[in-house]
Amino acid sequence: MLGPSRREFLLGGAASLAAFAAGSFGARQAQAADHALTLAGLDYRILPEMLTRGMMSFSPDGPPPVLRFKQGVKTTIDVTNALQEASVVHWHGLRIANRMDGVPYLTQHPIEAGQTFRYAFTPPDAGTYWYHPHCNTLEQMARGLTGVLVVEEEQDPGFDRDLPLNIRDFRLGGDGQFIDLFKPRNAARGGSYGTVSTVNWQVDPVYDLEAGSLVRLRLAVTDVTRVGSFEIDGAEAQVIALDSNPLPMPLPASDLLLAPGQRADIALRVPDDESEEVRLVLNRPNGAKVLARFRPGGSSLHRDLRELRALPLNPVAEPDLENADVLDFVFGWSPEGDAPQSSLCGSLGYTFWSINRVAWPGDLPGPFDPLARLKLGKSYILRLRNETPNDHPIHLHGVSFKLLRSNKRKLPPLVTDTALLRSQETMEVALVADNPGDWAFHCHVIEHQKTGLAGFLRIED
Ligand code: C2O
Ligand code: CU
Ligand code: CU
Repeated sequence: MLGPSRREFLLGGAASLAAFAAGSFGARQAQAADHALTLAGLDYRILPEMLTRGMMSFSPDGPPPVLRFKQGVKTTIDVTNALQEASVVHWHGLRIANRMDGVPYLTQHPIEAGQTFRYAFTPPDAGTYWYHPHCNTLEQMARGLTGVLVVEEEQDPGFDRDLPLNIRDFRLGGDGQFIDLFKPRNAARGGSYGTVSTVNWQVDPVYDLEAGSLVRLRLAVTDVTRVGSFEIDGAEAQVIALDSNPLPMPLPASDLLLAPGQRADIALRVPDDESEEVRLVLNRPNGAKVLARFRPGGSSLHRDLRELRALPLNPVAEPDLENADVLDFVFGWSPEGDAPQSSLCGSLGYTFWSINRVAWPGDLPGPFDPLARLKLGKSYILRLRNETPNDHPIHLHGVSFKLLRSNKRKLPPLVTDTALLRSQETMEVALVADNPGDWAFHCHVIEHQKTGLAGFLRIED
């Protein structure tokens, strides 16, 4: 798939990039893009009365904007890098062309400081997604670069309001400033947790909603570490989609386990009375924590959850299990690894983890061998074995997969891009390899990803 010519071009250095920018691409750039993002540093008030310095966002003036695209409609996004370092933007969960996937070296040259890169793609599926850098990933995400991305269905399902909730922590000290973004001893275990929980960059925000209305809450867990159990408390609420894919049957919005990278769409029936507060709660081992509140206001609209149209299924191909090949992946410790090499996209300086006994060496030009080669159009069963005592949300770019079975629990037949592998769990998932290219495959606990638990699958003709 990636022939030498494309590799050379990707790594061809400034001269060929400049020639490219001045050539065919230059003409297209003349037209404004549908969306524009500027990666920039900023100071922002996360805690009341305290300015947190050294944050990063997709806009110089505030939290990352919610991007809204339409299913099946081509869109363009100009990403300008106003940081002092290289970056690249990945559209988590979108099944788009490989060269628009935003992974350094694997799909494009990093966007260096001061450069602009135009992404252009057509989202084939609708749902709740998110976007984040894939270069110096831990630091850039920890400082704020995680945004919610919505792909709207062609037909509106009938909500009165659509409310994306970007759920994540920041590692701040009592003075509101960043503390060390990770600790090596945590990176070798469950990862370093943030100290301040936020929704849309606010601590315990209150949203005023119309009494008796139907609201689509789009939960996106964009945290770098935390696996959490979430709940909507104080109202009738149903989970209608997970990881962008509609559920065959709605689930109660309680005890909802979401890992970094995962999303849930919740249909909320706002109570009729102003005194009835609704809460988004994170249930932790040491007690429940309210993340956000929703307050009914005005006279009731008297809506009913049954008035909602079912979400249309996304056009994800059904794997042919009879003729599928099985591919094995073992997620484990790293064999005595070399310290990863530094690169334009940074390194945490440690190697702790591996996939099939190989630790990803870092975001480097390569070329590297894929973990597996998949034949375009063929069905596969991936057997994912976690031989560690830690949780690993395993994420695959470019294709969605279906959960089949686990040695530990009963799995619903969900279609997803990020599956949470619990401690010592083995899970089988299935997919149709229908999108050609080199697709990143990694744990979404970013400290794990950046200390070895990463690789890629090659889908080729
Ligand atoms: Cu959300 Cu490779 O990542
Ligand atoms: Cu992704
Ligand atoms: Cu992990």
